[in-house]
Amino acid sequence: MKIATVGKGGSGKTTLAGTLARIFAERGQRIVAIDGDPNPNLALTLGMTPQAADQITYIPPSIMTLVKDEAGNSRLEATMSNASIMDKFAVRANDRIDLIVMGKPAHGTAGTGCMCSSHRAVRGLIAELTDIGEHTITDMEAGLEHLKRGTARNVDMMLVVAEPYYRSLEAALRTCELARELNIPFVKVVSNKARSDEDRAAIATFCAKNGLEVIGEVPFDEAFVRAEQQGLSPYDHAPGSVGIGAIRAIADAIAMLAATPPPPASVAGHGAGATA
Ligand SMILES: Nc1ncnc2c1ncn2[C@@H]1O[C@H](COP(=O)(O)OP(=O)(O)O)[C@@H](O)[C@H]1O
Ligand SMILES: [Mg+2]
Repeated sequence: MKIATVGKGGSGKTTLAGTLARIFAERGQRIVAIDGDPNPNLALTLGMTPQAADQITYIPPSIMTLVKDEAGNSRLEATMSNASIMDKFAVRANDRIDLIVMGKPAHGTAGTGCMCSSHRAVRGLIAELTDIGEHTITDMEAGLEHLKRGTARNVDMMLVVAEPYYRSLEAALRTCELARELNIPFVKVVSNKARSDEDRAAIATFCAKNGLEVIGEVPFDEAFVRAEQQGLSPYDHAPGSVGIGAIRAIADAIAMLAATPPPPASVAGHGAGATA
């Protein structure tokens, strides 16, 4: 399953991506974690030390290149094999987790004044790394730009992290709509940081009203705050906390979905195995 976490800045994308990776790894699965945020910090949430995280070689956007076929259609192609990408850029974050960090886009390079090349690189990479690991978990950058550019087109499941306040929920709704336009098979909301039943209900009601499916609810957990203060990952700091328990339940739900065939990508598509 290729999973991506999206949502507003500070909503909890990195916490969710990193913790899910740790939980899957604990269950014996091999994970490729991709940090697609231009300000990368997934390494720490995966449990790496700041010193180790500082040693990571960012993957340059130039590993993907845009090539044109005879018909003039553009297509992204990796400039090296999956094995070499993993060999050169992946770091072991854990026994079973390999981490790749996309890094910041190159500045001052002609023609790359925007983030395009970086977006292209992430998008291409997610598509390229299909056969490595049981799950690919990509921590996306905040905002919707990357979705418009199609970074997430090659993702099977988008986890949209929403906090219990209006702007976060509105952003979640727009993200889900875009994700559906991109035909992402599974688009699920993760309710995060609810401090009360009212908070929880606010997210649940908004989602129900707008036809968004909530895959799990992670309450506001002081243990996550303390982990951050101590420079530890929430998983290492408080494996038995309520918040980690809630993310475990999300991992269970993902595992169940991964074991079932995905819903048809579009209404026009052929029914999966339907016979007369
Ligand atoms: N359920 C939670 N309870 C308490 N704090 C949380 C929770 N989820 C995330 N946080 C905290 O919120 C901050 C932002 O989380 P982060 O995962 O970095 O967000 P994002 O990647 O979306 O910017 C961090 O300090 C993190 O520890
Ligand atoms: Mg983040």
